[in-house]
Amino acid sequence: MINIPDKITSICCIGAGYVGGPTMAVIAQKCPHIKVMVVDINKDKISQWNDENLDHLPVYEPGLKEVVAEARGRNLFFSTDIDKAIDEAQMVFMSVNTPTKTYGKGKGQAADLKYIESSARKIAEVAKSDKIVVEKSTIPIKTAQAVRKILSNTENGVNFQVLSNPEFLAEGTAIRDLYNPDRVLIGGEQSEDGLKAIEALVDIYANWVQRDKILKTNIWSSELSKLVANAFLAQRISSINSISALCEKTGADVDEVAKAIGMDSRIGSKFLKASVGFGGSCFQKDILNLVYISRTYGLTEVAEYWENVLKINDYQKFRYADKIIEALNNTLSDKKIAFLGWAFKKNTNDTRESAAIYIADTLIEDKGEIYVYDPKVAHSRMFEDLNYLETRNVEINKRYLHPVNDPYEAMKGAYAVAVITEWDEFRDYDWEKIYDNMIKPAYIFDGRNILDHKRLKEIGFIVSALGKASDDIPI
Ligand SMILES: NC(=O)c1ccc[n+]([C@@H]2O[C@H](COP(=O)([O-])OP(=O)(O)OC[C@H]3O[C@@H](n4cnc5c(N)ncnc54)[C@H](O)[C@@H]3O)[C@@H](O)[C@H]2O)c1
Repeated sequence: MINIPDKITSICCIGAGYVGGPTMAVIAQKCPHIKVMVVDINKDKISQWNDENLDHLPVYEPGLKEVVAEARGRNLFFSTDIDKAIDEAQMVFMSVNTPTKTYGKGKGQAADLKYIESSARKIAEVAKSDKIVVEKSTIPIKTAQAVRKILSNTENGVNFQVLSNPEFLAEGTAIRDLYNPDRVLIGGEQSEDGLKAIEALVDIYANWVQRDKILKTNIWSSELSKLVANAFLAQRISSINSISALCEKTGADVDEVAKAIGMDSRIGSKFLKASVGFGGSCFQKDILNLVYISRTYGLTEVAEYWENVLKINDYQKFRYADKIIEALNNTLSDKKIAFLGWAFKKNTNDTRESAAIYIADTLIEDKGEIYVYDPKVAHSRMFEDLNYLETRNVEINKRYLHPVNDPYEAMKGAYAVAVITEWDEFRDYDWEKIYDNMIKPAYIFDGRNILDHKRLKEIGFIVSALGKASDDIPI
């Protein structure tokens, strides 16, 4: 029998990233009776979480710094002392990264579980009392089996229960999502100990989430549901993006089509906005993972079905980049192109898999001079993202990529403006002034359909918008 108290008072979270940080901050804020230790192997990240200046937190999320300000030092702590934090906790969350494997078996598709495995081994090594171990990371179905195997071979008499509790927050709205989740999903072993562990975690969330929104399932349903949720969300984006290409050819307007179909209650209106393609650390890797798992079970048709969601996403990114090159007479040599946005979506500083990286890469291949303004992304991050692709050497990237702090500077003397991220501030710029300072004809490629196209055309811009026919630009 597992020996854990009915009411948990001490938890630890391994991984202080985009999920671990905000999730634990909210748990600490909502549960002042629980001590929450967030640990990470990355010393810099932990010191940023502990920074006196809350503008230096490693994660930007609206509302996050207020939550950290309230709970940090009271019952929320960030530390690199992983062993001590695990040892003292009754419940340990694993919130480490689970990227796509870049080597060996499953390279390019399967999830790399090395961080999960090392966390599980660390727990097994240092735990001196019984613990509930919670998979918060997104992992392939059946991972709990591997974690259990590691934990059950310690020979030190410590008992563990493994739960699956995937996180559904969206970056940019993480705090709102954590405060008011559509649902909380908890999967566990259907045994007496397993059910006891599930209830212990339910009791934590029940401090602020209605109990009828807390779903209890078997562990495999919970693990799989997270991958499926992300696959369905990404599929909607690829669906509308595929239609955006058809709209441009036919004169239909993708926003009008999205509204018309979204009012059908069976379809719903959310996640139907055409864009330069989805980015973020999750959608691509989770679909690749689903594809890999399906193939592993011999389900070729299922794998191919989901693979196409990714194909359309790549198609959309490169289609957008091609439009820019084509409009500028098939050569970008010595031409300044301004990027508005580098983050994969607004209200986050996360750039992982952002469409901006691939679009910049394609334009730089054509010798375009890319000037980037993003309100939250560090300039060094942009170089790291581009260098990671290894398309050309680091010095050449430095020569063509120019991050700037002022959007007007980015657009001054530019041939074209590419709207990559949907930051609200872009709508309110002085577009007359921008037009006056650009090379003519002045192009705008609105990759998010957020600007007032009618007004921009009146000013004199040639506007190319996704999913909208244009008389002026080859599409
Ligand atoms: N980012 C999202 O929007 C989101 C949403 C839902 C779920 N997820 C999932 O949550 C998981 C974490 O994602 P993230 O975006 O927070 O990743 P992240 O890269 O921002 O954070 C992971 C952290 O874990 C740390 N880490 C890795 N191995 C460690 C170890 N052995 N000991 C201590 N720390 C270790 C890393 O240093 C890093 O700081 C992933 O599985 C992801 O798929 C992410």
